[in-house]
Amino acid sequence: MSLEKKDEHDHEGWMETRDLTVVEERYLGILMWLDKRFRLVDYLELLEDLYYKVNMQMPKSHTEQYGLDNKFWYWYPLYALGSFSTLAYIVAAISGALLGFYYAPAAAGASGNPTVAYEQLELIMTQLNFGFMLRSIHRWSAQVMTAAVFLHMLRVYFTGAYKEPRELNWIIGIVLISLTMVFGYTGYLLPWDQLAYWAGTIGVNMALSIPLAGEWVAQLMFGGFTLTQATLQRMYILHVFFLPFIVTLLIAVHIGIVWMQGIAEPH
Ligand code: HEM
Repeated sequence: MSLEKKDEHDHEGWMETRDLTVVEERYLGILMWLDKRFRLVDYLELLEDLYYKVNMQMPKSHTEQYGLDNKFWYWYPLYALGSFSTLAYIVAAISGALLGFYYAPAAAGASGNPTVAYEQLELIMTQLNFGFMLRSIHRWSAQVMTAAVFLHMLRVYFTGAYKEPRELNWIIGIVLISLTMVFGYTGYLLPWDQLAYWAGTIGVNMALSIPLAGEWVAQLMFGGFTLTQATLQRMYILHVFFLPFIVTLLIAVHIGIVWMQGIAEPH
C-alpha cells in the first residue's frame, strides 16, 4: 500500500508535459524557499514513513473484516463523546487561565466581611468587561466536561470497548473521571462563599471518617481539621497547578493509546 503510494509520487514525468501555472510556480517557489532553510521535505518524508509503519501494524478492524461499514452508523455520534470531553477540557483550561488573571486565593476578610477571594469574584462578575461571560464559560465547560466524560464511559462500557486489549485505557479512564471530579470539587471551593465553605466542611469530615489514615488525609488535603487560608490555598494549587498537569498528560496518553490500538467497533 505504502509502496504504491510512493510510486505515484515518484512519477514526476507528467510535470514535463505542460507548463506550470502562476499559482503552481509561486507555490513551488515558497516550498523550495522553506525547504532550503528548514529541510521540510526530509521531515515530511520521515513523518510519511512513520505513518505507514504504524498503519501497517494495525489489524483489520471489526467492520472491515465483516463488511459492517453501513450497519452501525446510528451509534457513531456516541463515539464523539471522548473528543467532546477533550474539547470541553480545552475550553475550561483557556477560560480558567484567563480567570486566573483576576482571582486571588485569599481567605482573609474582617469578621462578617466578604473574603478577598469572594471579592475578586464579585469584581469579575460586576466590574470586569466580559467577566460574567468568562466565568460562565468556565463553569459551563467544566460541567459539560463532567457529563461528557460520564457518558463517554457509558458508551465504552455498553459497546464492550473496555475488553482486551484495551484494559489499560479503561483504568486510565477511571483515573481521569476521578480527577475530573476532583477538578470540580476544588474549583467549587474557590469562590470561598457559603456553598464553598459548607462543601469544604463536608470534605474535611469525609476525610476524617476514613479509618486510621483520616486525620493524616485531612491534614494533607485540607491543611487542618477546620477551614482556613491553608485549605483555600491547597484547593487553589490543586486546581490550577497539579490537576492541569496530570490530567493533560493522562488525556494525551489515553488518546495516544486509542491512536495506537484503533477504535473498537460494537460487537
Ligand atoms: C478526561 C476524560 C476522558 C477523555 C478526554 C477521553 C478521551 C477519549 C477519546 C478521544 C477516545 C476516542 C474514542 C471516543 O471518543 O469514544 C477515548 C476512548 C476510550 N476511552 Fe476515554 N476519555 C476520557 C475518560 C474515559 C473514562 C472515564 C473511561 C472509562 C473508565 C475511558 C475509557 C476509554 C476506552 C476504553 C477507550 C477506547 C474505546 C474504543 O476503542 O472504542 N475514557 N477516550
